[in-house]
Amino acid sequence: MADSTVPVPVSPAPPPVARPVALVLGQSGFEDLLVRELTDGGGKVLGKGGGWVHVEGIDPAAEWCFAHTVLRDPVEVTGDSVNQLAGRLADWFLAAIRTERIEGTWPSLFLAAAGLDGLGRRVDGVEKAFAEIIRKRMSRVAKLAVAEAPRGVAVATGLYVVFVDFKRALVSRTAAFGGQRRMADDDQAPSRSYLKVEEAYTVLGREPAPGETVVDLGAAPGGWSYSAAKRGAQVIAIDNGPLKGGALDHPLIEHRREDAFGFRPAGGVVVDWMLCDLVEDPHHVVRNLITPWLEHRWCRRFVVILKFGRVDAIALLREVTAPDSPFVKHTTMLRVRHLYHDREEFTLVGEVSS
Ligand SMILES: C[S@@+](CC[C@H](N)C(=O)[O-])C[C@H]1O[C@@H](n2cnc3c(N)ncnc32)[C@H](O)[C@@H]1O
Repeated sequence: MADSTVPVPVSPAPPPVARPVALVLGQSGFEDLLVRELTDGGGKVLGKGGGWVHVEGIDPAAEWCFAHTVLRDPVEVTGDSVNQLAGRLADWFLAAIRTERIEGTWPSLFLAAAGLDGLGRRVDGVEKAFAEIIRKRMSRVAKLAVAEAPRGVAVATGLYVVFVDFKRALVSRTAAFGGQRRMADDDQAPSRSYLKVEEAYTVLGREPAPGETVVDLGAAPGGWSYSAAKRGAQVIAIDNGPLKGGALDHPLIEHRREDAFGFRPAGGVVVDWMLCDLVEDPHHVVRNLITPWLEHRWCRRFVVILKFGRVDAIALLREVTAPDSPFVKHTTMLRVRHLYHDREEFTLVGEVSS
């Protein structure tokens, strides 16, 4: 008997959607928190080491607290010797820019994974040999290379080479920078904490200006107050402890020995900046200090450090970035970062809605 069934055309299965891959760099020693943050954000970890996590499936445009730099779509370049690595990197780079006309400066960053003795020296060697090859083969492009990350929050095209071991680098043309960077110290600054607020201004993209008003909650010994006052801002420094160094008797700093939780700006006054660096339980700080400050719009912008030493950092991060957080409800802009100068803490910077 003839088969009467009509064959049903089978459409081919759609090709699998490629999930974006990234190499994410953060502070050495905090990789586990970085992994948790990335997996919370939908990522699947492909590998990790000192200060880096190779991950698949994260939103390439997302910003992260524990990430300092995100290299997009990295490729692997391997080699047994400095010269072989440099040659292969140069071949890859020259092929990648073949169709481009490079007119401006471009970042050229060669980095080593943390915790591998001698890797930094090897990377320096590869970087030098690479630069030599590029100079010979494309001297005009080589002259435009800058061995420095862009300042602030930025996405930049250049060359990013991260050695994850002695024979293997992950390499990319595009990187997103979270704004973290090592800051220069100041002899007059009375504390290391000074470096954190300087770095926080870079993340925010704005710093206190002459004539602006600042309230510094938990100010002693005065690094943050000093950093604002040296820019010409008028500072009220709240702390029972003494101010020191460049903050002591500074004409633009008024020291008040008061409890930060009880301080309120004089009726109706909106200060330009609220700075807060209290060694206190972060939930207490958010509930009893940040909430009234932001709810009542007592400041236009803020830099706040929350210490996560005794609480789950990722749970705290989720809380402060949740829709019902005062940091979200009352702001037009918020960035949360584990700064280069932060340790068991993260820093929030933002603009308060009017
Ligand atoms: C990490 S230190 C601040 C360092 C400061 N940002 C600097 O740059 O020098 C924390 C300060 O918070 C102060 N502090 C803690 N609880 C406070 C409170 N309830 N009111 C005022 N200050 C407080 C402490 O006295 C301490 O000086």
